[in-house]
Amino acid sequence: MATLKDQLTVNLLEEEQSPQNKITVVGVGAVGMACAISILTKDLADELALADVTEDKLKGETMALQHGSLVLRTPKIVSGKDCHVTANSTLVIITAGPRQQEGESRLHLVQRHVNLFTFIIPNVVKYSPNCKLLIVSNPVDILTYVAWKISGFPKNRVIGSGCHLDSARFRYLMGERLGVHPSSCQGWVLGEHGDSSVVIPTKTPNKP
Ligand SMILES: NC(=O)c1ccc[n+]([C@@H]2O[C@H](COP(=O)([O-])OP(=O)(O)OC[C@H]3O[C@@H](n4cnc5c(N)ncnc54)[C@H](O)[C@@H]3O)[C@@H](O)[C@H]2O)c1
Repeated sequence: MATLKDQLTVNLLEEEQSPQNKITVVGVGAVGMACAISILTKDLADELALADVTEDKLKGETMALQHGSLVLRTPKIVSGKDCHVTANSTLVIITAGPRQQEGESRLHLVQRHVNLFTFIIPNVVKYSPNCKLLIVSNPVDILTYVAWKISGFPKNRVIGSGCHLDSARFRYLMGERLGVHPSSCQGWVLGEHGDSSVVIPTKTPNKP
């Protein structure tokens, strides 16, 4: 006899397979949620984990994503305050810690965020010893170095977002001024992601 579950469901996905490509986002502020939504809409992971210390916000943001599951292809979205939800990730993106205030340099955040990293990174490493780390929190270049040192990972597994965002902004602004799409404008912002970076226009096509 058909069970109630059989009667109410069609085309069931196989349940509870262990993830092959789990991505974790630590910090569900503006940047963390932008990362999470990009991961989901581009089908980059078979499991997405979110971790944050602010429980109410974490719960709300997780539910918002889970409720979109019908139009998403990522079968599992999990979250928790405790780092064990991040276990067995292939990629862990660190966006934890508040952005700088108006007029404040990114470098002002350094001591607070180093303290944060001494707590976050060992926990991430404990649960996902084979992951790659992608650091976004500011000051990003310093914190990428700190994450590399604390993690003990080889350098090719600790990546900072560097001036990627600045280069995208530069190409957008160039395109706006010239009246063309940013993809038709070439150039880089190089150096530290901060007040000392420099702009290098180039004729060599950048990859977006
Ligand atoms: N690299 C870049 O290009 C770039 C661009 C924009 C922002 N940022 C940086 O990204 C970071 C986040 O920015 P935002 O705008 O999302 O800030 P936000 O204030 O909106 O969010 C920060 C989140 O971190 C969480 N958090 C704090 N301590 C934590 C901990 N121990 N574990 C887990 N989560 C914790 C907070 O609860 C909050 O939800 C900032 O450091 C900002 O400067 C970097």
